[in-house]
This record gives sequence, C-alpha cells and structure tokens, in this order.
Amino acid sequence: RMIMKKSKTIGVLVPDITNPFFSRLIRGIEGVLYRENFVTLLCNADLDSKKEIDYLEELSRRGVDGYIIASSAISNQAINETLRAKNLPFIVLDQKKAEGFSDAVLTDDYTGGRLAGEYLQELGHQKVAVVLPEGATENIATRLIGFREIFPEITLIHSELSKQGGRQAAKKIIETDITGIFAINDELAFGLYLGLAEAGKKIPQDYSVIGYDNIDMCEYVTPQLTTIAQPIYELGQTTAELLLKRIQEPEKDWEERMLSVQLVKRFSAARLK
Ligand code: RIB
Repeated sequence: RMIMKKSKTIGVLVPDITNPFFSRLIRGIEGVLYRENFVTLLCNADLDSKKEIDYLEELSRRGVDGYIIASSAISNQAINETLRAKNLPFIVLDQKKAEGFSDAVLTDDYTGGRLAGEYLQELGHQKVAVVLPEGATENIATRLIGFREIFPEITLIHSELSKQGGRQAAKKIIETDITGIFAINDELAFGLYLGLAEAGKKIPQDYSVIGYDNIDMCEYVTPQLTTIAQPIYELGQTTAELLLKRIQEPEKDWEERMLSVQLVKRFSAARLK
C-alpha cells in the first residue's frame, strides 16, 4: 500500500465546550492521542450545522488523519460527502448517532434513564417530571425511553440543555404537583437548584432531583447531586483508541462499544414524606 504522509492530527467536534462533560471527554481523548504522538484539534460546533460542515471541510484541507464527532448538527449526508467519499477515518459518539457505517462508542442511556426512574419510584415518588430539550438528540431521547419504562405517565418540561435552561424550567415545575425531577443532564440540574431556590423551594424537602453525567461539580453543590454517572473519561479514551485502530487498519469491520452507567446516590433525592 502507498505510504501517505501523516499530519498526526485528529479533529474533534463537540457541541458545547462550556459544558464540563465535554471538557472531561476531551481530556480522555487527548490523553490517548498525546501518548500516541497525535495532536488534538478542537472544534466547538455550538449546535450549528453550518459551523460543523465548515470545520469538517477545513480539517480535511489541513490533512487531519481522522475525526471524532460528538456533535449532532451535521447530517449523515454531509458526513458521507465530506468524509466517507474521501475515505477519511472517523468515529461518532454521544450526541452523534451511529448509522452503522462507522465505528461508534455508546453509553447505556436506556439503563441510565431506567435507573433514575427506579430510584425515584423506590423513594415513593409518583408524580415526576423529566427536564430535557425539545427535539433531543437520540442519546438523550433514549434516557427518556428508559425512564418511561418505570413511569409511563410523566410531565415533560422542555428546556435548553444548560444551567440557564434548568433555571427557567423551575418556573414551570412549581406550577405542577410533581415531587420528583429527572434532569437529563447535570447542568440542567444545577440550573434547577438556582431556579427552585429563587422560588423559595428546597431540595430534597420539596423536590427530589436526579441529574445525569456525574461531572465534578456534583460533589461541590449543596445538597450534593444524586446522578447517573457516565464513564466520561473512559468514553473519551475508548473513542480515541478505536479511531487510532481504524487509522492503522482501514479495512477492518466496524466496531461498536457500549459502556455502562451507574446510579450515584448523594443527597438531592429523598423519600417522599
Ligand atoms: O451534559 C451534556 C449531555 O449531552 C450529556 O449527558 C452527554 O451525554 C451529552 O449528550
């Protein structure tokens, strides 16, 4: 085979670098790439498909050796045209759904949602809400499916996937009679902390809150946040390792890895009185 000149550079596309989930993820990716003498080129897509396509094309002009795509704005058609057509190695994860024509790493979102539901049920909650963005990406929507296995009837509160979104959602929550809240990520949960406090409500006395991700801040807020832990660092490492394998061996079969999640009990969810 012809020996190509390598740039030893990998382009990484994420949807939102302000969310600590993604900084930890990138840290896992970068650790592996650094060890293997690759440089990480970070691109923040801001949920903007134009930005994402621009980045993909620019990265290809710069001759990167591969792509890690965690943002969902770009269509599969654009990926096909920009990457597959040119035989550029890539791997998708998190907000980007695998379509069966690339390597992929997933975490068990279904079980994560289910675990959150089971725990709220065990604590005696019956009226529960899920806070999530409208038109959620597939990984997030799958958490909702798992949760609904336990609570078929829930109040859905749509809000942007951010602290600000959680703060806004609190205004809607206090108008309902729900007692348990599943925030689809930790950032939303932290926003709920502020929003509920502003409305004079207490966690967990008035509302039990469960988050998702287990970012570092969960331990530093009061009450410490009960959440579903994703193995974020390992997710980054596994993704980078699979992509490097693909670069070495372009013709091998597609690989898909599923990483497990777990409930981390802290102090934001309590038994219903
Ligand atoms: O916090 C960011 C969220 O978006 C996480 O739950 C992660 O899985 C991503 O999809």
